[in-house]
Amino acid sequence: MKPSPQILVLDAGGQYCHLIARKVRDLGVYAEVRPSETPAAGLASARGIIISGGPSSVYDPGSPTADPALFSQGQPVLGICYGQQLMAHLLGGTVRKGDKGEYGLATLEVDAGGDLLFRGVSGEQQVWMSHRDTVIAVPAGFQVLGRTATCAVAAMSAPERRLYAVQFHPEVVHTSSGRDLLANFLFGVCGCERDWDPRRRLPMIEEEIRESVGDRRVFFFVSGGVDSTVAFTLCLRTLGAERVRGVYVDTGLMREGETDYVHRMHGVAVEHAAAAFLDALAGVTDPEQKRHIIGEEFVRIQERIIEARHLLEERWILGQGTIYPDTIESGGTAKAAVIKTHHNRVAGIQRLIDEKRIVEPLKSFYKDEVREIGRELGLPADLLERHPFPGPGLAIRCLCSEFDAPVRETAEGWIVPVHSVGVQGDSRSYAPVLAIDALDHARATELINRLPGINRVIGPATAEPVSCMRVSACSLTAARIGRLRQADAVVRKFSHESGFDREVWQFPVVLIPLGVSGRPDSVVLRPVHSVDGMTAQSVMMPADLLARMTEALLRVDGVGGVFYDLTHKPPGTIEWE
Ligand code: XMP
Repeated sequence: MKPSPQILVLDAGGQYCHLIARKVRDLGVYAEVRPSETPAAGLASARGIIISGGPSSVYDPGSPTADPALFSQGQPVLGICYGQQLMAHLLGGTVRKGDKGEYGLATLEVDAGGDLLFRGVSGEQQVWMSHRDTVIAVPAGFQVLGRTATCAVAAMSAPERRLYAVQFHPEVVHTSSGRDLLANFLFGVCGCERDWDPRRRLPMIEEEIRESVGDRRVFFFVSGGVDSTVAFTLCLRTLGAERVRGVYVDTGLMREGETDYVHRMHGVAVEHAAAAFLDALAGVTDPEQKRHIIGEEFVRIQERIIEARHLLEERWILGQGTIYPDTIESGGTAKAAVIKTHHNRVAGIQRLIDEKRIVEPLKSFYKDEVREIGRELGLPADLLERHPFPGPGLAIRCLCSEFDAPVRETAEGWIVPVHSVGVQGDSRSYAPVLAIDALDHARATELINRLPGINRVIGPATAEPVSCMRVSACSLTAARIGRLRQADAVVRKFSHESGFDREVWQFPVVLIPLGVSGRPDSVVLRPVHSVDGMTAQSVMMPADLLARMTEALLRVDGVGGVFYDLTHKPPGTIEWE
């Protein structure tokens, strides 16, 4: 059912390795990824080879390499970034270990004279670079095809041997003619034929599910998010309802209507655990402690479910909605875990993973592909376009305070003694918020950069003066979670009806203990643009929408003010805790 790959992408450890295979498939040519050291003979059936980028230096001991025989078996090879350096190094060229890198956009000067790789692409091109080492002398028989201001060999080739390489990344969208270049390599150099239609993904995924599950059964902890829903639905469809079980844990920290929605949508069992979570969180104000307690509670409940349902027995395996970027992040950015603690891993789940009793049908796909797969499965658009929602739920959007405290006036605005988490210079900050008197992103950015001791700036959505407000001691109570849930529902309703939710990547609604007598809390609106959650920009919403939303929020019992988070990430994280 799966075609045999015409293109094999050799993985030299690069973040974008998988993206290369995906871009090739998008061009209608079936491609797969292989370890970079695969012997050349094992690659000979492909029409062409692409060597990916990677974080190493070709001179580092133990750095990824490729079988040199690859370059003499007459098969076209395209080296990308580290792949170019490796090609140069293995064929007798010189690579210089760089002292500093070239990251981001650059202008490529393509040499005239035309090479198959650059057919239809000439003159100056915008390309995206991410490298430190550079090729400074090409191997014998190679010609330079283009350069940038800082990189003398930005592309090279030995066309009669069908060897090509580029220092920049044609697979990323920022390289304007990247798609043309890849198409030239596939169709012009390798002579590939179109044999792949993305819609053939579904039968392929189903085949993989059947292969890895065998005659066993699969259980999922479903969250209601896009990834776990699509993965769960794929297994249901492939294996049938009698072999697939899902459990949803209602922590009492979810959005309005969520438990009903998930239950209705998937027919999964619901484990009601709201009381256990709220009890465990009583009196807690510190964000890390909150996360820790919630993680521990999840572990306890999941263990209990695993035990009660005998899920460690041989016939069960675990299903997960892991997608490709999750696997990059868990391999690479250990520092992300330091900024905010994510959920612990359940011992029972770890055992299943260690025993490879796990099926992850989406692990080679990107988010947009997962959405497309969901559409092909007939899942509703509303579900597929859902914003990410954090596992610890409303608890980390409901801020608490140990003390009553006044706001403090400064020349720039009001210091609100509510602490939120930030990420500054790759490390965690936990600092008070500055409230200014205008919805002005440029001013907010300038102030955060200039003022020590704050990591976030908010502006007013209401006319209520901050000077009349104070912070009051409070913790996580059912009443405050209920207040936040109601505020969140108001925001979701307005942003959905106006279509604003489709313009942003995520729209957290945060409750902070800043208010006036009888109305002790304020709502902070935090709509952001992002691609992957690693960085984000605060986004302004249309003024009339903000006015209507604010008016409705002030009708929520206990809400005394509405603010707008003006902070980008970095320095402020998307969530406040
Ligand atoms: P931050 O707040 O770190 O968030 O800028 C980046 C993205 O991650 C989500 N997030 C979480 N998701 N469990 C999750 O499943 C968590 O503990 C968690 N903490 C943050 C956040 O909503 C944003 O999309």
